[in-house]
Amino acid sequence: MDGGERIPNNVGLGQNQSLKRALEHWQPHFCEWWRQLGPTDFFAGEVYLRTAVGADAKSWARYGLVRLPEYRWGIFLAPGEADRRIGFGDDFGLPVWQQVPGEHRAALRRLIVTQADTEPASVEQQRGLGHSCPSLYDLRNLFQINVEEARHLWAMVYLLHAHFGRDGREEAEALLERHSGDRDRPRILATFNEPIEDWLSLFMFTYFTDRDGKYQLKSLAESAFDPLSRTARFMLTEEGHHLFVGDSGLSRVVRRSLEVMRDNASDDPQRVRDRGAVDLPTFQRYINFWFSSSLDLFGAEISSNAASYFASGLKGRPDEARYQDHRALGEALLLDKPDGKGGAGKEEAPLRNAMNEVARRAYVKECGVGVERWNRLIEKAGHEFRLSLPSPRFHRAIGFWAGVFADPEGKILSAGAFSARRAEWLPSAEDRAFVKSLMRAVVEPGKMAGWVAPPVHGVDHLPLDYEYVRL
Ligand SMILES: [Fe+2]
Ligand SMILES: [Fe+2]
Repeated sequence: MDGGERIPNNVGLGQNQSLKRALEHWQPHFCEWWRQLGPTDFFAGEVYLRTAVGADAKSWARYGLVRLPEYRWGIFLAPGEADRRIGFGDDFGLPVWQQVPGEHRAALRRLIVTQADTEPASVEQQRGLGHSCPSLYDLRNLFQINVEEARHLWAMVYLLHAHFGRDGREEAEALLERHSGDRDRPRILATFNEPIEDWLSLFMFTYFTDRDGKYQLKSLAESAFDPLSRTARFMLTEEGHHLFVGDSGLSRVVRRSLEVMRDNASDDPQRVRDRGAVDLPTFQRYINFWFSSSLDLFGAEISSNAASYFASGLKGRPDEARYQDHRALGEALLLDKPDGKGGAGKEEAPLRNAMNEVARRAYVKECGVGVERWNRLIEKAGHEFRLSLPSPRFHRAIGFWAGVFADPEGKILSAGAFSARRAEWLPSAEDRAFVKSLMRAVVEPGKMAGWVAPPVHGVDHLPLDYEYVRL
């Protein structure tokens, strides 16, 4: 990497003057966006952050105190593989592409823009959270995620500029013009327009929604368009930390609730609330909301776009190497579907058309791992309550189950029956107000808010009472 560059990179930007100029033209627009919609209230302080400085497996990142306006966002691709071959679809076994084939240009651009749009969106969604951080450790993690999502934007903008000419440059500008929740110019995907105004939602988002991101990146990492594959592979390195924040954050909330239940000798949700912790039924409703919303991000169960992305090698299955038949021809997937008469039926779809569902099922399985872990904590504490993922039929806005009312077990209901019980299953205004009432900033080093247990370890081998953010 050339650290003296205005834009740190391992893509040889110094040897490509026109690309360098284009990115340097975009850079002030990005900085302006960060100044407007990043975590701007914390620009004066120093934060202990990880910065990507290369793509070498061992030394890809550097840790140190940085001011948020001075963070250095770089462009890094994972190392290329010699003689990499297309791993799936009609062109299975042929060499991968270093340039965008003309016939796939529009589809690839769309895939890249859709991924790119989520990155700045999440920064916008999370921008107010610093004011209610449960600890300096958590505040630092929030900012770490924010700077890395912003770097993911850089990663995607690099691809747009380097490979899509003028259209790509226009798309890069538009990525800074759409905003999360904006009435006129919202972000592309619904979940990325949902406000995140409390830390329980942040942990749910980083557990469920960042995990969708992981699966999308895994699919793109399989792409025949090699620069996209390499970009996605490097982004996955950073994504691991975002998922860790969600996973460990939710575990800490459960642990704290169990402590309060033990100290009170009661599992009455109201008493847990009275003692300033999140009761497990509320926790479950937050799971129901964020899980169902994130399921929609995979798209419809049957999709001709997904089929053509797969056929043409643009987007594979997550972990394509797990499968035997990389052409996925002649196979079918049995899908769960409303029968149109108030019940459920099945439909068999050609596998290529059901690729969204293949990815979604792998995702659901992985989401279940944390839930099992939290249930073991609850069981060990001697309580009967169990958390669960709701049925994929529940609360969906995309695909077969959009517009169908089902309970979290998947039982189909009338609209009236659903709305009568909605507050049992999804966070109510009152739940949200309660959770928000817990959110008071704790900024003394080593201190922790009362609704969440401390983490097991500090960051980068530092102690928990290290001053991770110097305000
Ligand atoms: Fe990201
Ligand atoms: Fe992320």
